[in-house]
Amino acid sequence: MEQRVKELNRKYKEIFSDGNKVRNFQAPGRVNLIGEHTDYNGGFVMPMAINRNVLSAAAPRGDNEVHIHSVNFDKTIQFKLNNIEYRKEDGWGNYIKGMAKVLMDKGYKICGMNILFEGDIPLASGLSSSAAIEVLSGKTFAMISGVEIPAEELALLAQKAENEFIGVNCGIMDQYIISTGKKNNALFLDCRDLSSEQVPFIFDDVYVVIGNTKKERGLVDSEYNSRRKECEHGVKEFNKILGGVKDLRDVTSRQFEESKDKLPEITRKRCQHVIYEDERVKKAVKYLKSKDLESFGNLMVESHESLRDLYEVSCRELDILVEEALKMDGVFGSRMTGAGFGGCNVSLVLKDHVEKFIVLITEAYKKKTSRKPEFYICTPEDGAKEIVL
Ligand code: GLA
Repeated sequence: MEQRVKELNRKYKEIFSDGNKVRNFQAPGRVNLIGEHTDYNGGFVMPMAINRNVLSAAAPRGDNEVHIHSVNFDKTIQFKLNNIEYRKEDGWGNYIKGMAKVLMDKGYKICGMNILFEGDIPLASGLSSSAAIEVLSGKTFAMISGVEIPAEELALLAQKAENEFIGVNCGIMDQYIISTGKKNNALFLDCRDLSSEQVPFIFDDVYVVIGNTKKERGLVDSEYNSRRKECEHGVKEFNKILGGVKDLRDVTSRQFEESKDKLPEITRKRCQHVIYEDERVKKAVKYLKSKDLESFGNLMVESHESLRDLYEVSCRELDILVEEALKMDGVFGSRMTGAGFGGCNVSLVLKDHVEKFIVLITEAYKKKTSRKPEFYICTPEDGAKEIVL
């Protein structure tokens, strides 16, 4: 990390040559251990921030312009703080513009600045590189402008930028874990009232291994929105049957079983996933606290099957990565993670078995899909913060 930051600061001097002393910030990517497609249903999730992140180097400019340069895209974008507009051709720059806008709409005074970004979160892979850039730019804007924004509020503002400026109707999970994550912990989050608990995730002999299908996630936005609608429909149906249902979170599995025959098939399947997934997250917290990774892993497998068969957001590539993982020795559990339709899976693997795990799955996956997967061994890390060398 130190080397990357030094290199970033050297490049900042080269690109902006403003003679200013920079400050550095980071925001991580995330992997969700369990609790998928539950956040926008007022339910429970258990993600962790990972050791892949985006870094910034920034200093004030003395005017009201923001100049941003991305090392990864080798591109500079400029905008004035009093004239922020979404422009398709600005690509990644829109996340940063959106963040500046929501901060100012909230009444925070932001100054003009130069910012250099560099990241190692795989893009478009379901590890939340866009939420990381939102949270990171929010943190950078605030700190350089001398404004204090609590981590929880920063997460909500980043979600607002994504929903309103970018136009993606995501839940709160990604921005929340990226903003509030703590090293060596997974986060148990209640997405309705945002109460949360850090749950220690410290295992000397176990790795969290992320497998990237390298499959483009073409369908994700439209399918995501249609799943949200189907869940809203479920809420309406349960309101007719039970009354007092605000989110699917309010329906227990017992109530579901008693009334499922009254639901149309698709609604029934979507609701079944969400309602049982919430229960799995609550069980997973208990198992993690008692260090029972066997049971935790079984819940991951159940979660995957439910996402595949009931919520129908997996895909062949994800199913193959999970199936192959479950054939290996030393694996507690494996499931797709994130929105689905490509992206990554996550497995819990005994350290001694990881090397073989990666070699054998790479071979099997390549044979079955003609794609080469990537694997990232991950540790639970801190959320967005300043880096002082
Ligand atoms: C994406 C969204 C999250 C969440 C997951 C599915 O990552 O950004 O809010 O809904 O999908 O669990």
